[in-house]
Amino acid sequence: MRLDKYLCSCTDLTRSMAKKMLHKGVVLCDGEVVKDPGFKVTDDTQVVLDGTPLGVVATRYLMLHKPVDYLCSNVDELYPSVLNLVDLPKRETLRIAGRLDVDTTGLVLLSDDGQWCHQVTSPRRQCSKRYRAWLADPLVAEAESRFVEGVQLHNEDGLTRPAVLKRISDTEVLLTIEEGKYHQVKRMFAALGNKVVGLHREAIGGIELGDELAPGEWRELSEAEVQSVYGG
Ligand code: URA
Repeated sequence: MRLDKYLCSCTDLTRSMAKKMLHKGVVLCDGEVVKDPGFKVTDDTQVVLDGTPLGVVATRYLMLHKPVDYLCSNVDELYPSVLNLVDLPKRETLRIAGRLDVDTTGLVLLSDDGQWCHQVTSPRRQCSKRYRAWLADPLVAEAESRFVEGVQLHNEDGLTRPAVLKRISDTEVLLTIEEGKYHQVKRMFAALGNKVVGLHREAIGGIELGDELAPGEWRELSEAEVQSVYGG
């Protein structure tokens, strides 16, 4: 990659600001001053800008309050990627640990630690996810027991794992599941003949979104929150 582009990708500098820094002679590549913006940087090049080593990004663990009309994808498609909401260098290296549909809001976890993301999403790890759902029709009386027993989703082998349903009202519920199949919550209510008209993820394992972040805001996870996903 060109040195000026590399400087922009690791910092908040624009291309013209990066060129000015190069011209001032404050950029070192492997210990030598480099002024050429087209100088080729490889993965092994150690770049120092004004005394600060670049490219050394500590592993990040974040929570984001996803608004509607953002995609849990690393690239923009019909809707913008949630990564647009995270104003950090090298944000494109963040992985999304458990996707939400474009019309679902709530807790999304992001990290560049692939193993940690796997811990959150792997069905074998049984990390719970709690959703608040609003329904088109009043919930049937036997919904709680049907979800504990498991329901048959369209085009899936076997029943869903036991899930805990708490009725807030006949059309508002909290549902805790330990799987993350495609559109799982919407399909579980469809299996009861109902329809989800609003969906919000409140918690993943012991990590709660709470009400401190407005839609679109993010924060770093505490060490205890990061470690909580290993808690079983
Ligand atoms: N289940 C769904 O149906 N949609 C989501 O976004 C998350 C879980």
